[in-house]
Amino acid sequence: MSLLILTCNNPFKKAPIVSINGQPVLLYTDNEANLLEALELKQIEVFSECRNGFCGSCKTKINQGSVKYINDPIVELEANECLPCCCIPDSNLDLDLTVKKPANLQMSKSTLETCVD
Ligand code: FES
Repeated sequence: MSLLILTCNNPFKKAPIVSINGQPVLLYTDNEANLLEALELKQIEVFSECRNGFCGSCKTKINQGSVKYINDPIVELEANECLPCCCIPDSNLDLDLTVKKPANLQMSKSTLETCVD
């Protein structure tokens, strides 16, 4: 007789919703290695350099929610800041980020001129 043992990270915990300035942008699952990767997969640009918690260039303000760190960051952080390159959401999370519009959403000069007329 064989015994099948299934292991997974708490299958009953809801996937955290990640928002930017109150606008939901993604549902965080274990498919992404960290918050930075999850944001980038949604074409949300976050400036980053080391991607390991050393440089602080990805430092982001948290409006609401909490994160947990995969690796302890070396960078000093305020209580309302996180380093997306080395953390994952621990709850629903609202970030204070300025998001650039994707190129296909930017209006062309001719579209703008049409709107002005
Ligand atoms: S990219 Fe360097 S700390 Fe996040």
